[in-house]
Amino acid sequence: MAKRALLTGITGQDGAYLSQFLIDKGYEVFGVIRRSSHRGVEDHRLRWLGVADKVTLLDGDMGDLSSLVRIVKETAPHEIYNLAAQSFVASSWRQPIHTANITATGVTNMLEAMRAEAPEARFYQASSSEMFGLIQQERQSEQTPFYPRSPYAVAKLYGHWITVNYRESFGFHASSGILFNHESPLRGIEFVTRKVTDGVARIKLGKASELRLGNIDAKRDWGHARDYVQAMWLMLQQDKPDDYVVATGVTTTVRDMCRIAFEYVGLDMAKHVVIDPAFYRPAEVDVLLGNPDKAKEKLGWQATTTLEQMIHEMVDADLERVKNSETL
Ligand code: NAP
Ligand code: GDD
Repeated sequence: MAKRALLTGITGQDGAYLSQFLIDKGYEVFGVIRRSSHRGVEDHRLRWLGVADKVTLLDGDMGDLSSLVRIVKETAPHEIYNLAAQSFVASSWRQPIHTANITATGVTNMLEAMRAEAPEARFYQASSSEMFGLIQQERQSEQTPFYPRSPYAVAKLYGHWITVNYRESFGFHASSGILFNHESPLRGIEFVTRKVTDGVARIKLGKASELRLGNIDAKRDWGHARDYVQAMWLMLQQDKPDDYVVATGVTTTVRDMCRIAFEYVGLDMAKHVVIDPAFYRPAEVDVLLGNPDKAKEKLGWQATTTLEQMIHEMVDADLERVKNSETL
């Protein structure tokens, strides 16, 4: 009998790659989808990866406990991957209460649905390196103290600890993946890597002349989403639940990431990038650098894609999209 996996956030970047990965492993995949007036576009990432007709989507919302209880009951999952969130840091200052309701309390809703209907299921929580915020150690590991710097990070910290708490209180097989930034051609256009690769494609094809960015001195530890969803699955295959940092162990400035993208198509970023304070944040996370030793030792996981390979893949995908006037 095929194992059943339930994904919240299945329409997002990670949800799409994880669906593809689990389908290839023979899983039956179910996903929570929120109602939208724009029917037909919500599953564009699943379609891009060719898996839209291989998953079952069920109406629900992280803010609606009753919908989650019903979905867990109907699908009786062996594994639950909680990926849904208001995940854009910049928006979290503009919508702090919504971010708390979905990114924080939404986790408890999912855990409660599991407690009621599938307490034996294995649970994955999408925690974030953003929780390290104002970093307390040069390389951040599972032992590094947290110091959140945005309403999003504060909400994620709640989600992280409530997951640990349900593990310790009820004996749940609940694991938290502290994932550093991971990107792909399916990254949302508002995040900096995709904004850059889309911008580079538009400039190269003569559809734009400038790219407006905020703090390009910020540093991030960027990996590929395709690699990172494998770590999620590996966590749920362990006998014991635990928390793991998932990162490449390399950090790069936004400026250098941007330079890689421009140089790939033979352009000089200095001629096109305009610094716009509108993209500065009220409080910044200046640098993130993960220590993935535990994931390597215990899960046998390590990143396989370099930043350069990933940015080239993203620029290629955006050149195609811009040529075909696709908007997503
Ligand atoms: P994403 O592309 O922004 O996807 C977010 C998903 O959550 C989408 O499917 C979205 O649905 C869904 N969602 C949002 N609000 C919801 C609600 N109220 N009810 C139900 N679903 C809702 O994010 P991602 O990059 O795939 O990241 C996946 C998870 O990992 C997120 O929790 C994120 O915070 C976390 N994370 C990401 C990274 C990273 O670098 N990518 C790093 C660390 C942690 P719609 O399609 O309807 O909007
Ligand atoms: N989005 C954006 N747009 N960021 C910019 C820009 C811009 O025009 N200019 C500079 N940046 C800087 C931001 O200030 C930040 O320091 C860095 O680029 C990365 O920003 P994002 O790509 O928006 O990602 P993030 O690091 O804030 O958050 C992502 O990673 C987290 C894990 O550390 C998201 O995926 C979160 O959901 C995730 O938890």
